[in-house]
Amino acid sequence: MLAEEITTERLKLRPFRFSDVPEVHAYLQEPDMSRFLEGSAVPLTEAETAKIIARHILVDREHRNVWAITIQDIPVGGISVNFAKEHRIAEIGYSIKKAVWGMGFATEATSAVVHAAFERYPDLQRIQANIHPQNKGSIRVAESVGMDHEGTLRSYSLVGNEVADEAVYAILRSKWPMRRRRT
Ligand SMILES: CC(C)(COP(=O)(O)OP(=O)(O)OC[C@H]1O[C@@H](n2cnc3c(N)ncnc32)[C@H](O)[C@@H]1OP(=O)(O)O)[C@@H](O)C(=O)NCCC(=O)NCCS
Repeated sequence: MLAEEITTERLKLRPFRFSDVPEVHAYLQEPDMSRFLEGSAVPLTEAETAKIIARHILVDREHRNVWAITIQDIPVGGISVNFAKEHRIAEIGYSIKKAVWGMGFATEATSAVVHAAFERYPDLQRIQANIHPQNKGSIRVAESVGMDHEGTLRSYSLVGNEVADEAVYAILRSKWPMRRRRT
């Protein structure tokens, strides 16, 4: 498992807590937060947000790590990494609340988690992100941490009621450490 807490220049990644529910619930209501994501329907009830947080808290940390991305202990987003094939491959996902988009927070958090994962697991060969092809912000984050576009899975995911393509971005160990690391 990766460290429970990761500190970067401006952020602290730490486990979610039940006391985060109101803060997280407020920013998840923004429709643009889930516009390109599979399986997320807004509006959510506060109980549904609490279930999401509960799943984050109860996660099997050997195979999945989830952190709240915080500034002065207040969550501004979340980031997760799932490991498979005995920690040889991983998939990463991230979100930042809309009020602070474009300030480099997703890039900073993702860069730190990619770094931590490659350092912790010597056999880890690739970390990938699956991204809706129109999710320009997410594509920029992936590129900024050194991921390359490997291809696009056609009609692969269900976003709202629409079947959508999914672009696969990945960084291989051979390309790490990344060009832009802010830790
Ligand atoms: C995608 C997301 C995480 C980006 O977070 P962020 O903190 O704004 O990202 P950053 O500030 O690190 O931005 C990285 C780059 O993308 C650019 N960018 C951010 N949002 C953008 C947008 N909507 N359109 C175009 N470019 C965008 C930034 O300007 C920055 O560019 P630069 O590297 O040239 O400076 C955020 O928009 C989000 O949470 N979206 C909803 C959830 C989601 O889609 N998650 C991704 C799932 S694959």
